[in-house]
Amino acid sequence: MEFQWYPGHMTKAKRQMQEDIKLIDLVIELVDARVPMSSRNPDIDELGKNKARLILLNKSDLADKAVTDRWKNFFEAKGYHVVSIDARNNKGMKAINNVINEACAEKIARDRARGIKNRPVRAMVVGIPNVGKSTFINSFAGRASAKTGNKPGVTKGKQWIKLNKGVELLDTPGILWPKFEDQTVGLRLAFIGSIKDDLIQRQELAMELIKVIVSNYPGALESRYNVNETGEPSEMLKQVAENRNCIAKGGDLDYEKAALLIIDDFRNGVIGHMDLEFPEDYK
Ligand code: G4P
Repeated sequence: MEFQWYPGHMTKAKRQMQEDIKLIDLVIELVDARVPMSSRNPDIDELGKNKARLILLNKSDLADKAVTDRWKNFFEAKGYHVVSIDARNNKGMKAINNVINEACAEKIARDRARGIKNRPVRAMVVGIPNVGKSTFINSFAGRASAKTGNKPGVTKGKQWIKLNKGVELLDTPGILWPKFEDQTVGLRLAFIGSIKDDLIQRQELAMELIKVIVSNYPGALESRYNVNETGEPSEMLKQVAENRNCIAKGGDLDYEKAALLIIDDFRNGVIGHMDLEFPEDYK
């Protein structure tokens, strides 16, 4: 399977971000906790250098808790501040304010040394599509989402959401496109739904997903679909179609439907809380 990207979008988004990043102290980078490396865009380290950095492992409700903890240690060892959250259900959000203060301690001390008091930390949310940036901003800003900085009628300039006395958030997230040569990364992004389904062949994707789940979480597919995990992925897809009554018009097995079922179940976390990549595989 080959995945293609659109450098046109990427270049424009990146240029915008280069401008926006000049205005902020802290980069809040959202990644998908199930694939924290594949859902990062490596450019962000260059774009965000000299800024305080916070990584949010989002969608932790879908991920494997023990692995998420290891990812947290992994990124912390590299100097990032890290919080795991479930933005959709407002979980883990309370910890963020404290961590922002820790992450920006240097800036706050520098301001103080210069006699600048109470200048809020300015932050910006960045990430690839679908990691939950908008959900996070809504959930984090909540009722505090009174905008500051712009007068009515003035369309130029940035909109800032005042979160509390100490923090202002740029109201539009920075979108970076995934970037990869390695097709494994493309596959992982397809599994989590960050690459649109119409770009990919569903049955093939489902069989790749079956392989990955059997290898990392043996027994999970057997207990969900009553399939024999020692068989080939194509055989397992067939068994899912049979066991779940996926029948096409004319009475044949509907492999497409079975494939969609597996993919959706995975994306909704009902096969189990699963990670698709592990910190031990990265230096
Ligand atoms: P983006 O701005 O980064 O592109 O992402 P967005 O917030 O639009 O979120 C993409 C999808 O991920 C949404 O689902 C959203 O509800 C879901 N999501 C965000 N955070 C979490 C989380 O912590 N856990 C889980 N399980 N899901 C999360 P959707 O299906 O596109 O929309 P909807 O069904 O929620 O309306």
